[in-house]
Amino acid sequence: MCGIVGYVGVGDVGNILLSGLKNLEYRGYDSAGIALHNNDRIDIFKAAGKLENLYELVSDQQDKLAATSGIGHIRWATHGKATTKNAHPHLSNNGQLALVHNGIIENYKSLREELEREGYVFLSETDTEVAAHLFEREYKKWGTLEAAVSSGVKYLKGAFAFCVIHQNEPEKIVAVRQNVPLIVGLGEGENFVASDIPAIVGKVRKIVYLNDGEMATVSRNAVSVYDFNGRKVDYRTEYVDMSPDVISKRGYPHFMLKEIHEQQDIVRHLLQDAYADGQKIPVLQKVHIEEAAKAEKIEIIACGTSLHAAAVAGFVFEEWLKIPVSVIAASEYIYRCCLTDEKTLTIGISQSGETADTITAVKRAKEHGAHILVLTNREDSSIVRYADSRLPLKAGIEVSVAATKSYTAQLTCLYLLGLALAAERRSLSLDELGQLHDELRQLPTKMEKVLNEAENVKAAAEKLKNYHQMIYIARGINLPTAMEGALKLKEISYVNANGYAAGELKHGPIALLDENMPVMAVLTPGNRVYDKMISNCEEARARHSLLVGVSFDEDKTAERLFDLLLTVPPVTEVFSPLLLALPLQLLAYHIADLLGREVDRPRNLAKSVTVE
Ligand code: AGP
Repeated sequence: MCGIVGYVGVGDVGNILLSGLKNLEYRGYDSAGIALHNNDRIDIFKAAGKLENLYELVSDQQDKLAATSGIGHIRWATHGKATTKNAHPHLSNNGQLALVHNGIIENYKSLREELEREGYVFLSETDTEVAAHLFEREYKKWGTLEAAVSSGVKYLKGAFAFCVIHQNEPEKIVAVRQNVPLIVGLGEGENFVASDIPAIVGKVRKIVYLNDGEMATVSRNAVSVYDFNGRKVDYRTEYVDMSPDVISKRGYPHFMLKEIHEQQDIVRHLLQDAYADGQKIPVLQKVHIEEAAKAEKIEIIACGTSLHAAAVAGFVFEEWLKIPVSVIAASEYIYRCCLTDEKTLTIGISQSGETADTITAVKRAKEHGAHILVLTNREDSSIVRYADSRLPLKAGIEVSVAATKSYTAQLTCLYLLGLALAAERRSLSLDELGQLHDELRQLPTKMEKVLNEAENVKAAAEKLKNYHQMIYIARGINLPTAMEGALKLKEISYVNANGYAAGELKHGPIALLDENMPVMAVLTPGNRVYDKMISNCEEARARHSLLVGVSFDEDKTAERLFDLLLTVPPVTEVFSPLLLALPLQLLAYHIADLLGREVDRPRNLAKSVTVE
């Protein structure tokens, strides 16, 4: 996923573009660049690596930054390495047209061959560059930027959001949306284009969400929207309901720590909304519960952290709804034999709503007749297009690449969905439903306790920070918790942490155990696998592994057995994944921070993987 910004107005164009890119850094940070329309020419500045390198590059070019319009891009590399040559913006051969792109042009190879045969010279390895030469070719035919772009996009297949400027047409940006979000921000005497609201939050009050197959001509005082055939399209404006606070760390050293500490309030709001009027749960307003409850089987499809939330829901739904639930990684679902049918409820979970694997998988399930229920944190995202029912996470923009608040919001929404489905199917008694709802309501207070008493987590991080590997083990409903804890540590600290079913330890992974391989055990006293978990930990102890545990307060056995023990207040086991995730998030954060890692922008990662 990349980030795009565009600006036309009397402001300080260069610095407006740079600050917009700064707020989009969570989308990728392999390279960055801007193109400025300076009267009779287009000036391009681009640099590989972090955005700071671009700031450095333009620091002595203030005269060129005072342009009349411009476009900018921050990249997560897909086609072509993270080099300056491959950085956007890309320029046409005659130097008159510049563009930035988010998405994937699937037929770029054949187009590149065609354009090279026509004499166009390529300077980069990217798919994007074909669009620069294609639009130049069409501009020579049609003479205006709108006509050139609307003609050119017809040759393209795949997903693309573009901003395009041309030397002959000052103070004009042509923006294009096809399968990748793009918005237009409406100002006074100035207008903006952006991939996402954080780039323009605080700068505009109203925005236009472009739809697929639409393009916009954006000038200082006017915005016109067309379809790809050049027919004018009426557009509706929406007020920006996001405060600049969203992209501020609010005094925290990293967005990740800020977002970890937002969790209790987010869960509280979700639950408060849920019980406000005692009637239909507001977060479920867009869920066709009657329809969804008729399903004879459930499939839950997701990637990464969202897949771990899906796995928790798998346990919960089977217990509450008494129907088979399969949890599948989206990238696997796409290529396996498909038993999805019209009796299936397919739940797609994606924080960003732009994960290509999950979107492709959901599309496939829809083609097989399933009722599609989508959980996403971005209601304007691409995945929503395929939803029959929608469950918004309402967690607020998650800036840090590591998912934390979206994970606990997903779990909360899945619990609420499960209870609603159980009520509809009468698979739980009214007493059982009432008890579960009461337990759920108490979670935010317990979350707050965990997050406010986290000093011991930081102390544990000090003791663990020099290990290069860790094994996380659990059983049952908390196996996904162990997987999620390992993923958190892996992705931000680069420690080789892996989650395993505790019962699987003796079937191979135990060979890895020694004094250099700490074992993190996630367990809850009083359930049917607790004693087995204790045995697994004793097996690890016998192989000289440092034993770290996450359990409930007052777990006396664990207190005796573990070298390091993190605890949470006791809760009904089915809700324990939500609480137990918190110390694991904090542990990963503190270890990464102690190691001096780029916590919010871990290497090689992006906030959403928009390529399969
Ligand atoms: C989680 O911390 C990672 N950022 C990653 O695994 C993420 O959960 C995954 O890419 C899925 O993203 P999505 O929820 O936006 O689809």
